[in-house]
Amino acid sequence: MLTEEQNEQLTRTGAGTLMGELFRRYWIPALLAEELPRSDCPPVRVQLLGERLVAFRDSEGRLGLIDEFCAHRRVSLWFGRNEECGLRCPYHGWKYDVHGQCVDLPSEAARDEIRQRVKLKSYPCLERGGVIWTYMGPADKQPAPPAFEWATVPPERRFVSKRFQESNYLQALEGGIDSSHVSFLHSGALKRDPLFVGAKGNVYNERDLMPVFEVQEFEGGLLIGARRNADEGRYYWRITPWIAPCFTLIPPRGGHPIGGHAWVPIDDQRCWAWSINYHPRRALTEEELSAMRSGAGIHVKYVPGTYVPLANKSNDYLLDRAAQASGASYSGVEGVAMQDASLQESMGPIVDRTKEFLVATDSGIVHTRRVLLRAAQANREGKPIPGLAPEEQRVRSCSIELARDVRFKDGARHGLFADADTDPVSV
Ligand code: FES
Ligand SMILES: [Fe+2]
Repeated sequence: MLTEEQNEQLTRTGAGTLMGELFRRYWIPALLAEELPRSDCPPVRVQLLGERLVAFRDSEGRLGLIDEFCAHRRVSLWFGRNEECGLRCPYHGWKYDVHGQCVDLPSEAARDEIRQRVKLKSYPCLERGGVIWTYMGPADKQPAPPAFEWATVPPERRFVSKRFQESNYLQALEGGIDSSHVSFLHSGALKRDPLFVGAKGNVYNERDLMPVFEVQEFEGGLLIGARRNADEGRYYWRITPWIAPCFTLIPPRGGHPIGGHAWVPIDDQRCWAWSINYHPRRALTEEELSAMRSGAGIHVKYVPGTYVPLANKSNDYLLDRAAQASGASYSGVEGVAMQDASLQESMGPIVDRTKEFLVATDSGIVHTRRVLLRAAQANREGKPIPGLAPEEQRVRSCSIELARDVRFKDGARHGLFADADTDPVSV
């Protein structure tokens, strides 16, 4: 349970808020690279951390992320003409480069003098891992480019998607580190989903509904270990790293790829759920890729032409009561991602955390909130914050069987901090 003030601090990410300032210290995913496929392609509306922006790729291939609204009379530049190294407002022809600088002002006689004074807000962008990232913080504090393993493996080893979620980012993030719901909500998917089936660990997940959590801090954030009873007096551990402020990694199952998420605030009521699968050692197979593209695993099917899930709030997530009753699906919602999102959205856009009744299996969530608040305070005081340095982002999830007297921080270290190009540690 949190106080109302803590809940406000954790969930508000606009400019000048405690958490908003923390988020603005990191590179965060803004767009899929495929959304700006070529020079001079149509611009895209982007809203992040409550700020309305427009993204474009100019004639030279440079990426721009600037204020959505024209400096003149506030027309949305989404309507703009992306031409000759700039985005031109279709109302009176003012034109902006990728830095937001007005480079042409054809509607005025004293054009040059005015033009120089006209500059829109702009944020640097970079492309990595199939994602266009942006940094929305102070220029003198810009960190090194993101170094998550999924973002740096060769492209054929990775699949990235994103989906729109109608809830605050923290509800979504908390689902990503809540290993205990898997044995219930996702029990059907463990039996059927092509990206999960067949792993020995699934049996342990099904058999032991009461995982014991052990949470360990590391330089990037937290390592959240959930252990269940395994065969021969051993424990089955699933270890989920959370890397500040909003990145999580899902422990793999058998030979399947590793999963990951980024939970990025659009505003305080909505977020982008980024979903990543990658294998550190091999190319994803055609079967895996086609399953991911068709919405299996942690991905979804979309309303055509959008990143809005096909099963969404407006259609009650296509909940199938017959499947719920027969046990084919525990909740009746199809697919892991929408099983999660449907319940997280059902809490309301910002859940009232003063009314929760937390138990031992929520300890990963409790720790994460604590570290997030601490990091945000540290940031305000000019102290170091977790997850900024590339080496702090180079962590993997793993699933492993260990003898009962071995702590996961000792026994699973080789799986969590592995060399590049090595197989995941997975059961
Ligand atoms: S509103 Fe954009 S040029 Fe006038
Ligand atoms: Fe889930």
